[in-house]
Amino acid sequence: MDFHILPDAQVVAEAGADLWIDEAERALRSVGRFTVALSGGSTPRLLYEALAARDAARIDWRNTHVFWGDERCVPPGHAESNYAMANQTLLSKVDLPAENVRRMRGELADPRVAAREYDALLREFFGGYGSRRSTFDLILLGMGEDGHTASLFPQSPALEAATHWASAVQAPPGVTPRDRITLTLPPIVASVRCVFLVTGEKKHSVLASIRKDPAAAASLYPAARIAISRESTWLIDEKAAGTSRA
Ligand code: 6PG
Repeated sequence: MDFHILPDAQVVAEAGADLWIDEAERALRSVGRFTVALSGGSTPRLLYEALAARDAARIDWRNTHVFWGDERCVPPGHAESNYAMANQTLLSKVDLPAENVRRMRGELADPRVAAREYDALLREFFGGYGSRRSTFDLILLGMGEDGHTASLFPQSPALEAATHWASAVQAPPGVTPRDRITLTLPPIVASVRCVFLVTGEKKHSVLASIRKDPAAAASLYPAARIAISRESTWLIDEKAAGTSRA
């Protein structure tokens, strides 16, 4: 785990935008396209805004392909839709072809159908198991106060999924909206670069457990399951790191 402690959420977002540009350039140089999976959450929002404000000419949007790590089961224009958030802050502001945007269909009446559809879409795009070793060039992930990431919540049966890449899940009571679609661990673990964006003091205690003993934390926190399974970059602010004097 590669931890970068940065002053605040805005600096985390700018560092995430820098990393996006670097990974895009690397992927475009080597394979001619860049694939990225987005997350919901407050820090990714700042990252999308930061990226939209960068010099658009530096980024080859026409060969960028956008996916999602999770989606809430609401229509795509809904205030709680992860797609809507990314679209408003970034996608609608850059020269990204509509066909390069592959969202999870949170509006479907049966989330299991949306999950199966996304699983099939990913397998077709990335070639399924076996024929390719990696999925996204970059996956951006947040982490909740309970250690969830994407919509993989602690104790979720979706954490054990081995044969499908997307799953319909329910967030714990109190977390709304409860119905979600999420990537499972295999396509996350198989991404080329995995980056967590974690800010705010409420994340401190879970983050401290993961940093201290990732193997022990993995039985409790889905984010730690990923951290022990592959290399990961963590962009965190001083509040989440517990080094803030504010
Ligand atoms: C979602 C997210 C989720 C999020 C974390 C952190 O759709 O809710 O994808 O995994 O990233 O809950 O969110 P914050 O950055 O807002 O704390």
